[in-house]
Amino acid sequence: NKGKYEHYMQKEIHEQPESLTTTMRGRLIRGGSCKAKTVLLGGLKDHLKTIRRSRRIVFIGCGTSYNAALAARPILEELSGIPVTMEIASDLLDRQGPIYREDTAVFVSQSGETADTLNALEYALENGALCVGITNTVGSAIARNTHCGVHINAGCEIGVASTKAYTSQIVVMAMLAIAIGADAISNQERREAIIDGLFDLPNKVREVLKLDQEMKDLAKLLIAEQSLLMFGRGYNYATALEAALKVKEVALMHSEGILAGEMKHGPLALVDENLPILVIATRDGCFSKQQSVIQQLHARKGRLVVMCSKGDAASVSVGGSSRVFEVPQVEDCLQPVVNIVPLQLLAYHLTVLRGFNVDQPRNLAKSVTTE
Ligand code: UD1
Ligand code: F6R
Repeated sequence: NKGKYEHYMQKEIHEQPESLTTTMRGRLIRGGSCKAKTVLLGGLKDHLKTIRRSRRIVFIGCGTSYNAALAARPILEELSGIPVTMEIASDLLDRQGPIYREDTAVFVSQSGETADTLNALEYALENGALCVGITNTVGSAIARNTHCGVHINAGCEIGVASTKAYTSQIVVMAMLAIAIGADAISNQERREAIIDGLFDLPNKVREVLKLDQEMKDLAKLLIAEQSLLMFGRGYNYATALEAALKVKEVALMHSEGILAGEMKHGPLALVDENLPILVIATRDGCFSKQQSVIQQLHARKGRLVVMCSKGDAASVSVGGSSRVFEVPQVEDCLQPVVNIVPLQLLAYHLTVLRGFNVDQPRNLAKSVTTE
């Protein structure tokens, strides 16, 4: 049932304040006056000690689920102090990459049925790793075959392009980071700040959804383009990859997510006055580096669209030539949840304006059950 919406993707983008609320329900504990704020993940509480003792945490997934894990990686590293590595499921299998008994392997999958991810799970089980699932589908193969895990409870996702599952996955992995890090006094303030940020996140997503018309206007400008680059770094490298994936798969336009730190190592050669480039430059520890990236792109006459935090428009528009839009600022590790929303809207409107099928992009299936 699409309700008042024309497409499932549109509905699922707009219901994110509610899906995020459901994801967090019962899992965030805001104690009384002297009791600390904590996270409770029922499916993991008996396994946290084992996870804390692991030598490495390895995230395994495909597509959007991989991108969600990439967005959560920095906060998991920070709060757990454990090395976190990333694996695209098919690539791990192609290489038969090393997985050890001392590893915690985290399988991220909306459907819980993706063949590559399932095969990687089987492989990790054979190698003796602790296998943790993060999935949206109760009773799915990944939920059943992992040792333990967390259901993201985002509600059924029907549009082939994953939207609300992505934001809920990031929130679950941020909660996972807090739960693993909860035995360290040293980062208690940081954990509590993130918990406060999580409580307020649905409101911030509601606020950023108001950019709908602005994203439609932007889509109109980009409708006939061949290509669109997305520059991000730090917490928002994943946002760039995920935004590019959305534009590719539904709007059928070439798009590439680029790690801004790699700009000078190749991508800068593409920059001219024709190719549109979207730069994510919201406030975090990388902001000043991203400002200098904007200046360098501007010096090459790049056609820029910049996403920045509220009140920063003047600090990111060099020479007043680029198009800028502002998003609400949240705790740095949660910013990817806010930042992807306008880009989901952009991909959605581009698709509709270009006349393509939003909910069933050509050649794609919701659940990829073959290798
Ligand atoms: C569980 C109940 C929820 C109830 C809550 C009350 C289920 C599915 N969830 O939620 O309805 O409101 O208790 O306390 O009955 N698991 C995996 N792999 C995965 C995902 C989950 O093994 O990929 C396991 C977990 O380790 C856990 C079980 O499935 O044993 C349920 O996980 P989850 O729904 O996340 O647990 P709760 O949030 O505690
Ligand atoms: C992109 C998309 C795909 C899936 C990928 C993994 O919008 O939907 O890239 O994310 O096929 O699917 P799950 O998460 O079900 O394992």
